[in-house]
Amino acid sequence: MNICVIGTGYVGLITGTCFADMGNKVWCVDIDAQKIKKLKQGKIPIYEPGLQELVTKNMQEGRLEFTSAIKDGIKDALFCFIAVGTPTGIDGVADISAIQAVANKISINMDKYLIIVNKSTVPVGTASQIRNIIKEQLKARKREDLEFDIVSNPEFLKEGAAIEDFMHPDRIVIGTDNIRTAELMKQLYEPFVRNQNPILIMDITSAELTKYAANAMLATRISFMNEMARLCDQVGGDIAHVRLGIGTDRRIGMPFLYAGAGYGGSCFPKDVKAIINTGSENGVSMDIIAAVEKVNENQKYYLVEMLLKRFGEDLTGKKFGVWGLAFKPQTDDMREAPSIVIIRELLFRGATVTAYDPEAIEQAKKVFADCEQHIQYVDDSKKAIQNVDALIVITEWRQFRQPDLNELKCHMKSPIIFDGRNQYKPNIMKENGFEYYCIGRNC
Ligand code: UGA
Repeated sequence: MNICVIGTGYVGLITGTCFADMGNKVWCVDIDAQKIKKLKQGKIPIYEPGLQELVTKNMQEGRLEFTSAIKDGIKDALFCFIAVGTPTGIDGVADISAIQAVANKISINMDKYLIIVNKSTVPVGTASQIRNIIKEQLKARKREDLEFDIVSNPEFLKEGAAIEDFMHPDRIVIGTDNIRTAELMKQLYEPFVRNQNPILIMDITSAELTKYAANAMLATRISFMNEMARLCDQVGGDIAHVRLGIGTDRRIGMPFLYAGAGYGGSCFPKDVKAIINTGSENGVSMDIIAAVEKVNENQKYYLVEMLLKRFGEDLTGKKFGVWGLAFKPQTDDMREAPSIVIIRELLFRGATVTAYDPEAIEQAKKVFADCEQHIQYVDDSKKAIQNVDALIVITEWRQFRQPDLNELKCHMKSPIIFDGRNQYKPNIMKENGFEYYCIGRNC
């Protein structure tokens, strides 16, 4: 099938590449001409395991093309996916101006029937806005004869596991009011659900809501566990046991029960804000989700609070090693990363930081550009611990799991670890002479 994907950000690039890999012909479109130029040379703008290889392969085999001209992208397409950003605007409202602009451009350039599929995370009602924009534009062009359909098809992929998630989804959600369109969408996705996972056809509003509900539910689980972890610290429990104790209940299940330094990334923080806002616009007070957000903001400071208890409020002259800057492992994404809050607080209190991350250093340099003189970036985890007053583990990259503890002790000024991701066993750390602080494990 012929597909156009507008927006070569995270979701767009993965979507286009994976559809191409299934044998479809895909045109990826972006207004950023520089980005398209680089993509045409096979250079991809983000780090995502396996993506580089898949893009190169599909380009070489002639199924994946890049262009900055929407006209070329939709010329032969039956499906036109919209995958542009919906950042948080003023007061937590999702900013859908990029989507509106794309809808406009599609309607100016389309010349035949098109199924316009929205993959961006958008507030309820956006699909009908897209429909109206296109209708009006076609009217202005005196091309009301051109038919089109609108579909809401939210994406559930996780950064760092995006290709696997796209290729083997738990489910596909398709929101449409047209049976024929539903059938065509099903055909497009059938190769991805050979495992019999369901393709769920529903109305457009429910599909739009499903995406927010999924992210808000996952964020809720994390904030719930982070609250439990704090309680564990006070009453002497261990959140690792509690996690197993409740996760083995099939009604609850294991995923997304890890306590830590708080959730980050571009999705949970943004979508939690947006759904709270949709609630208040519609007279519904989203109390649970508002609390989830508050817990998460506090959680980012939890490690700092522990550190201040240990070192005092004034950190002048102290030097801390940081392992992990990205909002989670397997990505270079720094958006809303807990490391930002933690490092800024340390610097504000007079400390300096030596930071290591396997992928996110370039992004981190941009984030911390205003205080770069206080952060030293290093290209090896061992260099980050030289002579430090304590090591802070913020992102759980695999390579941090089994450090050589003797070596650590030799290089650090004092053997103190603040572990924001519960990577080590408290008793082993103690046996090896470390002062070890973690989240909710009573250590
Ligand atoms: C999330 C959802 O998991 C995807 O299903 C969704 O498609 C995506 O948002 C989106 O809306 O586009 P992502 O933000 O890539 O994906 O990352 P997650 O793996 O979900 O992690 C989010 C945050 O939660 C990270 O900061 C992670 O460290 C934290 N987390 C996750 C925990 O603190 N504890 C856990 O048990 C799991």
